[in-house]
Amino acid sequence: VVIEECMTGPECSLLCFVTAGQSFPMAPAQDHKRAYDGDLGPNTGGMGVYSPVPIVTDEEMAAMVAIMEKAAAATAREPFASDYRGTLYGGFMLTPEGPKIVEFNVRFGDPETQVVLPLLESDLLTVMEATTNGTLDKTDVKFSDGAAACVILASGGYPLAYEKGKEITGLTAGQLDTADVTVYHAGTAIKDGRLVTNGGRVLGVTATANTLPEALKKAYAATESIHFDKLHKRSDIGARALAAMQ
Ligand code: GLY
Repeated sequence: VVIEECMTGPECSLLCFVTAGQSFPMAPAQDHKRAYDGDLGPNTGGMGVYSPVPIVTDEEMAAMVAIMEKAAAATAREPFASDYRGTLYGGFMLTPEGPKIVEFNVRFGDPETQVVLPLLESDLLTVMEATTNGTLDKTDVKFSDGAAACVILASGGYPLAYEKGKEITGLTAGQLDTADVTVYHAGTAIKDGRLVTNGGRVLGVTATANTLPEALKKAYAATESIHFDKLHKRSDIGARALAAMQ
């Protein structure tokens, strides 16, 4: 029997580059795990995400950074002694007693990466090489002061039963306003020369802007150009952040 502490509060993800026992934080992000608006319905692989996270206070950010530093330092000691070099994903709950870790993953997060990396101003390959070489403390890891938002376009019915093979339109030049917008393919395929849906989470539409409200507006505007039968998206990505900012 495993008895676990019940933690309450909003979630926040903090990804870090880890090398030589040191941790270099990326921008925090907030995923939306539930399928429907208002955080209702079944859990999914993530229906949308934004970064930074305005509800995170300076104290909470410092506490999360400290936990990640402690974890990174532990990877360089016995019994690990493996000096882990790569991305460490910290999944946190912002509880009334402060941030607490829910899970660590030794990988980037999905969809967190779709908003965190567009805010990285430093060259990603240089940062990754420095992570591998253990020289990240001599390398700039700079994030933009702006914001990014990503809205997931999913197949209707996901994460339960859904159909595949629906033609996707609206992604070609001229159909989509691509200024500050990137569309990441997740569950797509080419069939008979046509782009079709091939998974539950089909596309991630990310927009960057100077502020979070602008980024959300641009991401949602871009989703309006994209169509496939039974497309499902949440309409309230970032709503909690927008309410906190008002
Ligand atoms: N966003 C959750 C994960 O990547 O595990």
